[in-house]
Amino acid sequence: MSYRIALIPGDGIGQEVIPEGVRVLQALAGDFGFALEFAEFPYSCQHYLDHGAMMPPDGIEQLSRFDAIFLGAVGAPGVADHVSLWGLLVPIRREFDQYVNLRPVKLLPGVRSPLADRKPEEIDFLVVRENTEGEYSTIGGRVFEGTEREAVLQQSVFTRHGVDRILRYAFEAAKARRGKLASATKSNGIIHTMPYWDERVAAMAKHYPQVEVSQFHIDILTAHFVQHPDWFDVVVGSNLFGDILSDLGPACAGGIGIAPSANLNPEKRFPSMFEPVHGSAPDIAGQGIANPIATLWTAQMMLDFLGEARAAAALMGAIEAVCAEGKTLTRDLGGTASTREMTDAVLAKL
Ligand code: NAD
Ligand code: IPM
Ligand code: MN
Repeated sequence: MSYRIALIPGDGIGQEVIPEGVRVLQALAGDFGFALEFAEFPYSCQHYLDHGAMMPPDGIEQLSRFDAIFLGAVGAPGVADHVSLWGLLVPIRREFDQYVNLRPVKLLPGVRSPLADRKPEEIDFLVVRENTEGEYSTIGGRVFEGTEREAVLQQSVFTRHGVDRILRYAFEAAKARRGKLASATKSNGIIHTMPYWDERVAAMAKHYPQVEVSQFHIDILTAHFVQHPDWFDVVVGSNLFGDILSDLGPACAGGIGIAPSANLNPEKRFPSMFEPVHGSAPDIAGQGIANPIATLWTAQMMLDFLGEARAAAALMGAIEAVCAEGKTLTRDLGGTASTREMTDAVLAKL
């Protein structure tokens, strides 16, 4: 098989970790007998500063010809975050209907959780985040600007189609795992959208008698992530709740330097996009010290989704081996290795 991959390193450490991901992918392609054709796109904040847009008008059309998109991070000081993100990352998720944002949280052997005494088998869950609607919406704006009555309105959008499809995905994932689903809600405080979300969860649950369903308000759910991470198997949340949970979850499992993510169009009508959870990390960009594991694990998710399960399993094994050995770790994991050295260690295990 041959796959066409669009590379968007983007900004900051995105420029440092994507090339490492490519090195590892190329090695795997050689070992497992498939071909990868990469094309790099300079879409980034620099592109914005040079051309006035994060990507050209036909950017989405160009990307649509690929089997997958492998993206680093977007965002740089000097360009407002809502401009950069809504000019590149968010449009890709929406135009390609990548409605599932899948973010595994797993404590790898050898990685120390900041939660005292937690062992790998106690932190292993999947955050399933709605990725195309919800609280992330362009509907709204400023009224009575500059007056005493100035106000800003932001409309959330929860469609039956949008809610049901993410719930169905999450229930299916729970069925395939340990059969437990936790839903993030806030129906005590947000009186329209969240009671509706709960209602759809209850309706979907009827089709999955084998899945044990629980629901938690988002405030206490964050506390449970810290105090009882072992309770969770699959956690489903709206766009914003899922966003928050998918930084908190990895923080409990050793930090966002290792957290992977996949933006999926499960039906494969459009390319899916694979990107680490973390951002462009301007505070460490350019130093060659970013942890490459988030990106390598993301590459593993991409291989799995493309159908290269054996290569994906080999890569996961190599990532786990390097963490377990604990000799070549970046600073965020307590070591002194550079981005390149840690990637080399993974390559050596393949
Ligand atoms: P961030 O993830 O970039 O950084 C948060 C902290 O984590 C920083 O201290 C950083 O050094 C550290 N960190 C992140 N990745 C790391 C890695 N691989 N190895 C070691 N340490 C790592 O989040 P932020 O500071 O909130 O955002 C910075 C910029 O990135 C903003 O412009 C933001 O909008 C953008 N952002 C983009 C994405 C994305 O492209 N998917 C995601 C989150 C944030
Ligand atoms: C993420 C990021 C993005 C999000 C931002 C940068 C728009 O935080 O991928 O989690 O909120 O989805
Ligand atoms: Mn986020």
